[in-house]
Amino acid sequence: MNPTRLFHEATDSILPGITRILKDGGLCIVPTETVYGLAANALDPVAVGKIFQAKGRPSDNPLIVHVHNFQAVEAVAEIPGPSVRLLFERFSPGPLTIVLPRKPHVPDVTTGGLSTVAVRIPSHPWVRKLLEFSNIPLAAPSANRSGRPSPTDFTMARAEMEGRVDAIVDGGECRVGLESTVVSISGSEWKILRPGAISSHAIQDCLAPLGMKENQTIQKDAPPASPGMKYAHYQPKACVYIAENFSPEKWEIQTTSGPYGLIGILPEIPEGFEFIRDFSDSEHYARDLYRSFTDADEAGIKTLIALDPGPEGIGSAIRNRLFRAAQGRKI
Ligand code: TXA
Ligand code: MG
Repeated sequence: MNPTRLFHEATDSILPGITRILKDGGLCIVPTETVYGLAANALDPVAVGKIFQAKGRPSDNPLIVHVHNFQAVEAVAEIPGPSVRLLFERFSPGPLTIVLPRKPHVPDVTTGGLSTVAVRIPSHPWVRKLLEFSNIPLAAPSANRSGRPSPTDFTMARAEMEGRVDAIVDGGECRVGLESTVVSISGSEWKILRPGAISSHAIQDCLAPLGMKENQTIQKDAPPASPGMKYAHYQPKACVYIAENFSPEKWEIQTTSGPYGLIGILPEIPEGFEFIRDFSDSEHYARDLYRSFTDADEAGIKTLIALDPGPEGIGSAIRNRLFRAAQGRKI
């Protein structure tokens, strides 16, 4: 691969150059409102194959296809009923991904061999322009190496992937900071496969008038509905623990040692931590979570305590990522 080209401004003038790279089967890291994505032409199996190589990602883990409007969704997926159009109308462009029956020309490598394809219309203004200008549906997983936190700014994306991709575009800091909500629909039921900024309450409000219900069952021994959810994920080098309550005097960590770090919406700043991130609310927590992971690593933190944000709003998505990063460890 040629050296990675760095585009320090996401302007209209770079759209033709990025489109050329994508048409030629190359890989470009692009900003979205959730996290930076590692993009290739979703309909070019060779290009999509390179995504898995660059990330070190298991090939059974399917990718999200990004498009610029509902018509472009219909070009890659079947629309099974009015609920899908309603969801796109309400939440797109934005951080919602819907799993749909795929059209036959979507390659197996993009969908991990599944009969479905996950589709999303991102809202970051530059990437929307790119999707429209290029008219290429973009397969784009988060631009991290497999298992690591997703990059939410240019510096993180560059540190993670320079030398492994053809181009990286700086579109600023991601507004949301956590990956999109992934939802699947089956008959009159819908199910959240991965929580994100669009909450289950919001989806409930949207689909209840159609008589649809959330399917909340978690089948323990069944194969994961969303293959990505079975892998360890979002992990910094530091060992993460989730603290359910703010009680620093009681926190005891037996398996790892300092230096210690602490992140969360903190009622006060305690002593004894060499790295602290105090967020003003759960949106802020979400936006800066992954950056605080990589910053803690840079500060040499060995044990990182993350205070539970609670389940409200985007809190359930933060919890989900913390749980995976901590591999279930709680104090
Ligand atoms: O916000 C996002 O969604 C970001 C940005 C770049 O758009 N993308 C992202 O992609 O997070 P990725 O590949 O890191 O995560 C995709 C998730 C995985 O958990 C994957 O298993 C699931 O979506 N997924 C993709 N296609 C699926 C399908 N056909 N059925 C079920 N789950 C699917
Ligand atoms: Mg990912």
